[in-house]
Amino acid sequence: MSEQIKDYKARAQQLVSQMTLEEKALLMSGNGAWMTHKVERLGIPSIFMADGPHGLRKALGPNTADSVPATCFPTASALASSWNPELIGEIGAALAREAQANDVQLLLGPGNNMKRSPLGGRNFEYFSEDPFLAGHLTAAYIKGLQGQGVGSTLKHFAVNNQEHERMVSSSIVDERTLHEIYLPGFEIAVTQAQPWAIMCSYNKINGVYASENHLLLEDILRDAWGFQGYVVSDWGAVHDRVKGIMAGLNLEMPGSGDVNRKKIIEAVTAGQLPESRLDEVVAGLLAVVLLASERRRSGARFDVDAHHALARRAAGESIILLKNEDELLPLETGGKKKIAVIGAFARDPRYQGAGSSQVNPTRISNAYAELAAILGGEERLSYASGYDLEGVTTAQLLEEARQQAKNADLAIVFAGLPDSHESEGFDRSTLDIPEGHNRLIDAVSQVQPNTVVVLMNGSAITMPWVGRVKAILEGWLTGQAGGGAIADILTGKVNPSAKLAETFPARLEDTPTFTEFPGLNQQARYGEGVFIGYRYYDKKNITPLFPFGFGLSYTTFAYSELSFSAPSIQDTESLTVELKVKNTGKVAGKEIVQLYVREDKPVVSRPDKELKAFTKVALEPGEEKTVRFTLSRRDFAYYNTNLHRWSVNPGRFDILVGGSSRNLPLRKHVLVEVAQQEVVSLSRHSLVKEFKEHPKGKEFYPQLVGVIMGGATEEPGSVKRTPEEERARKKAEMSTLVFAHDMPVYKLVLFSEGKFSEQRLNDILARVQ
Ligand code: BGC
Repeated sequence: MSEQIKDYKARAQQLVSQMTLEEKALLMSGNGAWMTHKVERLGIPSIFMADGPHGLRKALGPNTADSVPATCFPTASALASSWNPELIGEIGAALAREAQANDVQLLLGPGNNMKRSPLGGRNFEYFSEDPFLAGHLTAAYIKGLQGQGVGSTLKHFAVNNQEHERMVSSSIVDERTLHEIYLPGFEIAVTQAQPWAIMCSYNKINGVYASENHLLLEDILRDAWGFQGYVVSDWGAVHDRVKGIMAGLNLEMPGSGDVNRKKIIEAVTAGQLPESRLDEVVAGLLAVVLLASERRRSGARFDVDAHHALARRAAGESIILLKNEDELLPLETGGKKKIAVIGAFARDPRYQGAGSSQVNPTRISNAYAELAAILGGEERLSYASGYDLEGVTTAQLLEEARQQAKNADLAIVFAGLPDSHESEGFDRSTLDIPEGHNRLIDAVSQVQPNTVVVLMNGSAITMPWVGRVKAILEGWLTGQAGGGAIADILTGKVNPSAKLAETFPARLEDTPTFTEFPGLNQQARYGEGVFIGYRYYDKKNITPLFPFGFGLSYTTFAYSELSFSAPSIQDTESLTVELKVKNTGKVAGKEIVQLYVREDKPVVSRPDKELKAFTKVALEPGEEKTVRFTLSRRDFAYYNTNLHRWSVNPGRFDILVGGSSRNLPLRKHVLVEVAQQEVVSLSRHSLVKEFKEHPKGKEFYPQLVGVIMGGATEEPGSVKRTPEEERARKKAEMSTLVFAHDMPVYKLVLFSEGKFSEQRLNDILARVQ
């Protein structure tokens, strides 16, 4: 992929060499809301961008709902629950066909931000709380999309995890957390799939706007990861256009007329912005403009039915069976049992989120009608709305629902989050679903022991009734074909195979960001560090409502025979892990096999375990398959803030494998040796204890300790002391040593009143380099 963009770089540079300053400045900002400018004189075309991510939103007017008809696929939190990169790749390809048919060259998606808090308003647009999972799913989406000649705009780069004060808030995040949690999802996507564009976020990162952030846009994105495409601002994320160009921001969107154009021209004329820098940034954009316009397929069409069918299949792989007591599900399709379908969402589903991602669907399916279609008519079904579309119930609606439930053999209650509870632009203030929904579930479950709850929501919620209903389906925002997919799962036409890509906490107070989110005074402090999602619940030993990686099936699976290619490896080598997984039930199913790595004795505070591999395996009843994973250095490493790079601490690592983060039946350890131990270089600011660990410094360690001990290291036995005096002396020596250990070595010069001289310190430092 990167080769593709590179091929256009020379032509882009050549065009730039023929452009006037005015033309270059013109290209740096959009032509209105969705297009780049063209330069007819040089045959430079314009390209069209449209939202993303779970469907095409080619706007027809200022109203977000006013756009071309397009297939509304499940949103990212649903798709991520499939843990199926191939499926997500197919959706990417379908989105590209719809984009081609509408003459759109780049889609504004996918979103790849971490779900730091379950309250995040756009969590429904993001994949996971885990960067490894999110990164791989994102990469699959981008490959699918770009494989059909439509560019991806990976967003929102970076550390953009809330809606509160989203245009100005500064994410205060430490270096290790940035590298271990907030960057790897983007890194995997960029290095594996090379998106044509990346959208920088609105927020600041440690005080610097993403759109002016050289560290992110140049040092990390381009230099470290090899990104070849262009960086576009989120819509309205530009503050100082000239600073943005210096930092690596290619395109400002939407256009700002001639306001910023003039500023660019003035800065070049005044010598504040080197024209050579402007040339680089223009050429970076142009290379993709040329590539994208050559990939245009004029006259392309897409198959509306086939895409609706794909949306249904995708939703079927995304709906999670969270509970199924007494094997209440699947429903018998042939029987006579009466089913009460309760809740307005059954007929009027919530199937997507609100904001820039809102798609105008080609059609909408609802679970009530789809269930009737599978059951061969409405004879066995009854219906009660239970609440209005805002989630408000009344005594009368509750009574109606109770009656229907009582007269049936089983009740299915549809509940979740109404539109007004979850959207781009604001964060949620509670994990609870509307009171009307909770009351309805209570009312129904009191009169009907066989109650199933089907949920429609884009992010984690609480379930106060979890113990009072027999079955729960997390339906997510399943897109336009969700109704059919829910009916497929309820009736067993499709065996559920999805698992949570985000933890469902028991209560808001248990969440990692409870005391911090969403921050104050335009600052969001990421005080929980690397401990988000399951990393936090594991570390604090908190039992969530449903853990990361959890999901049931209508069949069962057994794990066995975990083996490694070697009992120990060098960190430069890879480790092959093998295991067996078997379908031990009566129906065909798919299991998501998850592998986590745990470091036995970390030198920094690390999560209890971290996801490092996964795969989805289809198994017929009784069938067994061997699963193989390969682990390499990075899977054992942590981000070392002394060295500013990834380090492996030699020692024992546990490999844990199973079907959920809290159910990992296979365990075995491997020893990882480090071929070349990386060491921090010693300076006058290094601590005395750092000399002890350093290969060259350790020779000088006794001397340094000697200085702090008063220079007098007495001959053993030369001074006679009583046992008490000896104990007291040792204690004093120990506390001096402890004190000395954390002292920067330059202090020894002062403490020894110059007896340990500057000259001596410099000699030692020279010898330890
Ligand atoms: C959103 C982006 C979106 C853009 C264009 C912004 O407000 O943050 O995700 O792509 O608008 O609609």
